Amino acid sequence: MKNFVLFALGLMSITARAQDYSGQYQRSISGVLANIQLSGAVVASPSTSEPNYSYDWVRDTALTMKTMARIAYAPETPSGLKQDLLMKLDRWIHWELHLQETPKLTDLGEPRFNLNGTANFDPWGRPQNDGPALRALTAMEIANHWINEGRLKEVQTLLYNGVLPANTLIKRDLEYVAHHWNETSFDLWEEERGFHFYTLTAQKVAMLKGALLARRLGDSAAADFYNDQANQIQILLNGFYDPSSGTIRYTINKVGGLPHKTSSLDIAVILAAIQTFDGSFYVPVKAVYQTLSSLTSAFNSIYSINQVKQGFSGETLGVALGRYPQDIYSGAGFGEGNPWFLSTLASAEFLCDLSHTNIGFRAKSNLDEISKSQFNRVLHHMLPNGALSEQFNRHNGYEQGARDLTWSYVSYLTAYRACF
Ligand code: NOJ
Ligand code: NOJ
Repeated sequence: MKNFVLFALGLMSITARAQDYSGQYQRSISGVLANIQLSGAVVASPSTSEPNYSYDWVRDTALTMKTMARIAYAPETPSGLKQDLLMKLDRWIHWELHLQETPKLTDLGEPRFNLNGTANFDPWGRPQNDGPALRALTAMEIANHWINEGRLKEVQTLLYNGVLPANTLIKRDLEYVAHHWNETSFDLWEEERGFHFYTLTAQKVAMLKGALLARRLGDSAAADFYNDQANQIQILLNGFYDPSSGTIRYTINKVGGLPHKTSSLDIAVILAAIQTFDGSFYVPVKAVYQTLSSLTSAFNSIYSINQVKQGFSGETLGVALGRYPQDIYSGAGFGEGNPWFLSTLASAEFLCDLSHTNIGFRAKSNLDEISKSQFNRVLHHMLPNGALSEQFNRHNGYEQGARDLTWSYVSYLTAYRACF
């Protein structure tokens, strides 16, 4: 009998040991869908106070809808979900056309909008010029699908038409990027004004893909112009490499914003790499890898939860990562910074992207193991019902900051799609 009980316990722990990576994938889809409104707006988080995230941020929304588009067009997606997503993509395009046209303070660099579609005029770090680049990248994926499906007319009336001044979604964003990448703007964390690796990478890739789409639609002068911009952006990007450490600086030429960042490390560099990866990288991979290693060792010592290396079923817990080492945003105000789900998952996604290329400076089996452990870290700290907030506390590991953050769910989806 005693042996039987031990045997049964052993079985239980074997069952418990299987981490439910795919269950959380489904849960994350539901998490995103719950935050997409009928209007086409995407709520960053349903949290309405401490913090109030019930706005539509152009960046979060563009990243969300790019992932929804990829799922919609993936062959394995069940047709019910596919139809629902295609409808949401249509609505989103009309929503964004409206945001482009509504009066606002900083043109297309305006970072966030009220959910009724008016601009938000609160004091804020603006402009944030990653927004139009990210939105164009998402809309261009949709446009290419539509062209393939024979929906050329709709592409020309809503998405891309060479007419100037631009009157379609993608063309407006591409023109804005082409004429403003050369100006400083606020970073994706809405804290510092300068030139940012993240923003410039999105802008460069938007120009490259914009050139391809322009060519496809017969707008060849624009194609040349966008390619030319991409080349010039690349020259600016080359200045971010720090030869003494082999890493990439997140920002150069800082001209304003919050003062507390003292190192040049930021997960934004990894986000730039994974968000533009399309089978090939648009970033210097070795330097990004080196940046990730430096970030990982910094956060490993800063966040005390990283001393716990094993989960409840004996699984290896990877390193919980935050935005940048000196972060003091607690999720609702200033205090202590914490690990973020989307940062912790970005590391997994980057390593999995890397293992899908021929860039061979790291053993692939090792990459798999490390990226799995990043997922384990996330599953270990998330709520039992699979809800993902923005952050988890650096000391006790409990979720913190905006609840049900759309971008946290999206980061799970993109990392999972890269890794499994
Ligand atoms: C809210 C922003 O969204 C967040 O990124 C930032 O860290 C804090 N405000 C502090 O500026
Ligand atoms: C704060 C983050 O720093 C910023 O990147 C994001 O856009 C907003 N929260 C909304 O999620």
